[in-house]
Amino acid sequence: MQSINCLLVTALLAMPMPALAEGDAEKGEKVFRKCRSCHEVGPDAKDKTGPALNGIVGAAAGASPDFGYSNAMKEAAEAGLVWDEASLAAFLTKPRDFLKGTQMSFPGLRKEADVANVIAYLARLQAVAEN
Ligand code: HEC
Repeated sequence: MQSINCLLVTALLAMPMPALAEGDAEKGEKVFRKCRSCHEVGPDAKDKTGPALNGIVGAAAGASPDFGYSNAMKEAAEAGLVWDEASLAAFLTKPRDFLKGTQMSFPGLRKEADVANVIAYLARLQAVAEN
C-alpha cells in the first residue's frame, strides 16, 4: 500500500498540469475562511488541526517541523512533492483523491475560481511577509 502511494505521487508529479487562471487574492481571503478552522496564517500562525500555512506556495510538502503529518503526506514529501500552484490546485480540489490517506478531512473546493483565488491569497501573504 505504501509503495503504491509513492508510485501514485510520482506519477502525479510527472503529469503535465494545465495552466491555471490567475487568482484574485481578495476573493481568496474569503475562501480561506473555510480553511481557518484548521489552518492559521500570518506572523503568529501555529499548527492547529492542520499545519500553519505560511510560505506554503512553492514549499516542500510536509515540512512544518512539529506537525504530525499522515504517513501519506510523509511519503509524498519523501517522493519530492512540492506545493506549486498545480499540485496545490489538485490537492485543494479533491484532497483525498490527490493524496490517498491524507488526514486533511476537507472535501475540497468545488469551484475552480475558489481554488485559484485561495492560492493567490496564500501567495500574496507570502510576498508581504518577505518584504
Ligand atoms: C478539517 C480540517 C482542515 C480543513 C478545513 C483544511 N485543512 Fe488543510 N490540512 C489539514 C490537515 C490535518 C493537514 C495535514 C494532512 C496530512 O498530514 O495528511 C492539512 C494539510 C494541508 C496542506 C499541506 C501542508 C503541508 O505542510 O504540506 C495544505 C497546503 C492545506 N492543508 C491547505 C488547506 C486549504 C487551502 C484549506 C481550505 C481550502 C484547507 N487546507 C482546509 C486539515 C484541514
